Amino acid sequence: MIHFQPMKIAASPALSSLVREQISRPSPIRQIMKMAERQNILAMGLDPSEVISFGGGWVNHEAPDEFRQAYESIVSDADLFHKSGAYTATLGDAECREQIARFEEHLFGVPRLGAEHIAVGLGSTQLTHDLFRTLLDPGDTVMLLDPTYANYEGQLAFAVPGVKIVRLRVLDPQTWSYLPESDPGGIAREFTRLYDTHRPRLVLFGAPDNPTSQVLPQALADVMLAKTSEAGSWLAIDFAYKCQFFQTPPSYYAWSPADHPNVVGIHSNSKWARGLGRRLGWVEAHPSVVDAIERVQQCSILCPDTLSQMTMAKYVKTAIADGSLKKYVECANALYKNAAQVTLNAVDTYLQRPRLVPAGGLYTVVDIGTNAEEFVPRALRATGVLVVPGAGFGASLTNGVRISFGPLVRDTAKIDEGLARLGAWMRS
Ligand SMILES: Cc1ncc(COP(=O)(O)O)c(C=O)c1O
Repeated sequence: MIHFQPMKIAASPALSSLVREQISRPSPIRQIMKMAERQNILAMGLDPSEVISFGGGWVNHEAPDEFRQAYESIVSDADLFHKSGAYTATLGDAECREQIARFEEHLFGVPRLGAEHIAVGLGSTQLTHDLFRTLLDPGDTVMLLDPTYANYEGQLAFAVPGVKIVRLRVLDPQTWSYLPESDPGGIAREFTRLYDTHRPRLVLFGAPDNPTSQVLPQALADVMLAKTSEAGSWLAIDFAYKCQFFQTPPSYYAWSPADHPNVVGIHSNSKWARGLGRRLGWVEAHPSVVDAIERVQQCSILCPDTLSQMTMAKYVKTAIADGSLKKYVECANALYKNAAQVTLNAVDTYLQRPRLVPAGGLYTVVDIGTNAEEFVPRALRATGVLVVPGAGFGASLTNGVRISFGPLVRDTAKIDEGLARLGAWMRS
């Protein structure tokens, strides 16, 4: 007779300590977005169809129809579709890189930009992570704004363990002013003081930034450029919202890596062309940085998405030639500028709290005068309106919330209705 030994169930092996540490520190923004998931909304006794969300950091205008047609022309052609199933070079297809350089020259006047300055990737999130790996060593210091995009801290932690972060405070929570106008040189002095004290290897800011939708002035960017290039450190600008501008952009929008070898631009198709899920982004940098990213991407993605690259190259080439690219960007800008104005009017009418005027992008931040992480779930339960608490973006926004008008850009009546509900509850 055969005797079977009962099998011992092994305990599952441990996850990496880095992942365990990061899982225990989830982004507060993700937590709030989870709270707004359908089953949680129902559990709160709310009707999901009545919920108005200002939470999402995404755009809702339509992609250029010519862009859609370019996809169609590739997918409907058997040979081209076959080609779109092949790998491209790790840094992207040469024609796509060239057309991205022409796009930047055409829209923003970036000079002397060629395919050798462009690394294409699967959206700017992947590229930012790989860029951190490319530029930084463990123990280096990085300077970020306070407030700024909440994902950078986690991306830094995963890409470069042991990295230190110093924050340049650009929002005064007492006066709710961004780079206080009373002392325009003050922030440049503070930048220089922090820089000299901490010697960061990388300074990173967004233009316009998330969550404030503010654009750093040229004078401050000039000080950052002078300091970083003289000291031999990197200056990176996150241009995820570059095409969403409501006033003439500063001249650093046209800085070229051909002239500034320590400057790196991070770019994305997510926002300007409503291509959030069609993952395509690129980095603009000196060819030596681009070559280094190639080595990193060989291990992270092997190559960017071929179909999206073929389509981007085809669309951009035609849309520059027939003038439709500029027209499209202008029309999208007009939509977001209008949504921004509706949002500000509604904040002023119903919330009557300090806020920032967006210079571009999708957001404003409002001072609610109390801890926002407690306020936001209470507000959602009471009104069915979701906003994002500010602390995840930096300590200066502890009493602030981010309001995104991006998802409601084509339904501005909802912006008004949502803020009216929130305001009535806040004053009750
Ligand atoms: C400042 C900033 N950078 C990068 C991203 C991510 O963009 P992508 O879709 O290209 O990964 C976002 C998304 O919200 C963002 O706000």
